[in-house]
Amino acid sequence: MAVAPSLLSADLLHLAAEMEAAQEAGADLFHLDIMDGHFVDNLSYGPHFARAICKLSRLPVDCHLMVEDPLDYAMRFLDAGVSCVSFHLELDLDHGRILRQIQEKGGRAGLALNPASPLREAEHRPLFASCDLFLVMSVHPGFAGQAFDPSVLSKFEQLRTWREADGHHCVLEIDGGIDAETAPLAREAGAEILVSGSSFFGSKDYQAMTRSLRGA
Ligand code: DX5
Ligand code: ZN
Repeated sequence: MAVAPSLLSADLLHLAAEMEAAQEAGADLFHLDIMDGHFVDNLSYGPHFARAICKLSRLPVDCHLMVEDPLDYAMRFLDAGVSCVSFHLELDLDHGRILRQIQEKGGRAGLALNPASPLREAEHRPLFASCDLFLVMSVHPGFAGQAFDPSVLSKFEQLRTWREADGHHCVLEIDGGIDAETAPLAREAGAEILVSGSSFFGSKDYQAMTRSLRGA
């Protein structure tokens, strides 16, 4: 069970101290939300900022692209030093090709799915088999601090069934509204990486929060 604090909710003017505290608290990776103002109604940061974060981080950086042009940006964020890049299934493009290009560049490649988007077996099952990480969104992407949608949990059961039958090791991640109350539901459903933004950085004790999210 891995805990991934989402830097979107960190105190940005004290980011180095926030990252150090999260690392000391036992976090496993940092989640970096990239928004382009088109795919979602918000903006966050670009590759230049990501490079500074990756330089400082002792943990792998998990980059969640909420952008309309994931291929171009995946390459730029990999150059900046992120370990993993996820992009959205809602985009009408050749996902398999982009996954391969991320992997060929040495990154781990992930796919993300919005709460309102169903899993479609014919289209999604083969893509799931060829990615390294699958990100189930439990809020509509674009903003931290939204309420967790428990209806997405059934997607984990489907994904685990496919994974077992197809014999691969794609890691299952959940993102949105994860706190001490919702983390156990996500863990029971089969999530293996828990992203937490506002609840993690809003907590007083990051170590206690990390333990509680992990279920330790
Ligand atoms: C939402 C982002 C999330 C967000 C999570 O668009 O993808 O990663 O930072 O924040 P919380 O945990 O507050 O829902
Ligand atoms: Zn995210």
